[in-house]
Amino acid sequence: MGRGLLPGKVAVVTGAASGIGAAVVERFLREGARVIAVDLTDQSPDRPDLLAVRGDVSHAETWRRIADTARAEFGRLDVLHSNASTVVRAPAHELPEDDWDRQLSVNLKATYLAVRACAGLLKESRGAVVLTSSVHALVGLPGHPAYAAAKGGLVSLGRQLAVEYGPEVRVNTVIPGPILTPVWDGIGEEDRRRSVAATAAGRFGRPEEVAAAVTFLACAESSYVTGASLLVDGGWTAVKDSA
Ligand SMILES: NC(=O)c1ccc[n+]([C@@H]2O[C@H](COP(=O)([O-])OP(=O)(O)OC[C@H]3O[C@@H](n4cnc5c(N)ncnc54)[C@H](O)[C@@H]3O)[C@@H](O)[C@H]2O)c1
Repeated sequence: MGRGLLPGKVAVVTGAASGIGAAVVERFLREGARVIAVDLTDQSPDRPDLLAVRGDVSHAETWRRIADTARAEFGRLDVLHSNASTVVRAPAHELPEDDWDRQLSVNLKATYLAVRACAGLLKESRGAVVLTSSVHALVGLPGHPAYAAAKGGLVSLGRQLAVEYGPEVRVNTVIPGPILTPVWDGIGEEDRRRSVAATAAGRFGRPEEVAAAVTFLACAESSYVTGASLLVDGGWTAVKDSA
């Protein structure tokens, strides 16, 4: 018997070089998993329980390489965490078509490509899929039309995939609120203060706190949870801030 909540499991994590993805990689490793870490950017060197794959999750070819790596290096795949994302802020009438397409591809289509490449492996292992959506799936914020459409799409895609691939594969979605990662670097002090003030928790979330929710949904502790969305937003969507 291995150690932790994911003993001997093999997991793919995308957007693994930064923020929430990096925290999930760290937590999965601590829970006994072996991890294929996927990102556009360079990552730390490989070790026996961690393989880095450099690639764009919106390309089918990347997913062929990821599935081949899982098969060749580990002979299985148990967990898929589809988490990479990109955002371009502009109202719909000012957003170039390429930027719309890119955000839909990275934030939504990538999960379809992932499942297309990995469904067989995940079924064999009776695995689990966890998607990272956002509170933008539930509420509107000016300047995020494509991001919101993609993140909303992920919530329904997660539900759909749970039905499509159950009972062998469970599929769930996390919906983070304001989590302090590099995506906040370019956001001004006043916007940060207002985001934190709009939470019941009264603070930013930490990437590790989302990783804890992802780990729960990836492991056997959530064996009867599928097709669900779990808010990890410090109560941001629970707060009504006007009369
Ligand atoms: N931080 C927040 O406040 C917050 C809130 C809600 C939802 N989220 C979601 O959480 C997830 C992680 O966000 P984060 O805050 O950790 O962001 P981050 O910017 O710290 O990390 C995202 C990673 O994804 C990688 N990436 C981007 N495009 C890629 C592509 N095409 N192929 C492969 N890798 C790619 C980047 O290189 C980066 O390492 C995203 O899905 C984001 O939408 C974040």
